[in-house]
Amino acid sequence: MENQNNAPERKKRVFSGVQPSGTITLGNYIGAIKNWVALQDQYDCTFAMMDMHSITVRQTPAELRKHTLELLALYIACGIDPEKCTLFIQSHNSAHAELAWVLNCFTYMGELQRMTQFKDKSAKHADNINAGLFTYPVLMAADILLYQADCVPVGKDQMQHIEICRDIAQRFNAIYGNVFTIPEGLMVKSGAKIMSLQEPTKKMSKSDANPKAFISMMDDFSVIAKKIKSAVTDSEAVIEYRPDDDAKAGVNNLLSIMAVMTGSTPEQVAKDFEGQGYGTFKAAVADAVVEGIRPIRAEYDRIIKDKAYLQDIYRSGAESAHRMASRTLKKVYKKVGFVID
Ligand code: TYM
Repeated sequence: MENQNNAPERKKRVFSGVQPSGTITLGNYIGAIKNWVALQDQYDCTFAMMDMHSITVRQTPAELRKHTLELLALYIACGIDPEKCTLFIQSHNSAHAELAWVLNCFTYMGELQRMTQFKDKSAKHADNINAGLFTYPVLMAADILLYQADCVPVGKDQMQHIEICRDIAQRFNAIYGNVFTIPEGLMVKSGAKIMSLQEPTKKMSKSDANPKAFISMMDDFSVIAKKIKSAVTDSEAVIEYRPDDDAKAGVNNLLSIMAVMTGSTPEQVAKDFEGQGYGTFKAAVADAVVEGIRPIRAEYDRIIKDKAYLQDIYRSGAESAHRMASRTLKKVYKKVGFVID
């Protein structure tokens, strides 16, 4: 790729990540990880395990460590190629915390108070409404801006955080010049918000108290099938895709899941199953999900055993992440007036 001056243009950059707090759901896979795979040839991609974000909610230390490595193995099993992408653990690059501090001084309390995730999480964890939970979007902005990311592929629930990241970056640039690339959130057409199987007007979430509401990428295949077969639908007994009709939320959700897992569209899947019963439809969705997850699990089981391989990846990932991020951090420190050398 060349620009008008014949100077080689840099590949566009992608940054994204998942929190290693517990189980990874089908929602995380469909809304995020699956789409990263398609971007890795075209973009310069960096994906991280966002462990610093996880501790805004209490974690068991040994579990957090374990889940962080499991998440790395899952990224690779899903098709993220460590030869093409930078994969690292967020806490291995101290630039995230450092930039977050600076950006905190360019973020308003009022902006953070409006964040839906903060409101939801503080209602859920009323005994632990800590400052980290409140300033979480600032750390997320630092994650993205450090790598000068052009695109951030995420599910719908994270779009508000991308918006505030853009606002903070634009505010900073307006004062100091062109320091940060302004990132765009990238959402998939189908599957940007996979819903709970039990309350289909709510997002599928790993922290749901009812395990029947979500599919974990680590569930037994028989459990996955059972959960889908007992998904809440409606009494209309008509397979139609009506995305704006809450009464149809359960069927819409299953249509979206089926579409993503088979490379189709929800409208087409609805046509394919026209006139059939919910039982037959759910069995087909269960099959599609299980068959989609089966090869990922086989890869995962192989990779997770190879601790040395995983260690090599996250160590060299941390080195490249640090190299990229320190360039931005140095620029920022200089701009705000810190003595840098
Ligand atoms: P997290 O860990 O909650 O979710 C990881 C990714 O999965 C997407 N997702 C979903 N997509 C569709 N349907 C669902 N039900 C569903 N549930 C989750 C999320 O939108 C997300 O893309 N704050 C982020 C992690 C993060 C991050 C970042 C992401 C920290 N720094 C910088 C991008 C860039 C989070 O909590 O995602």
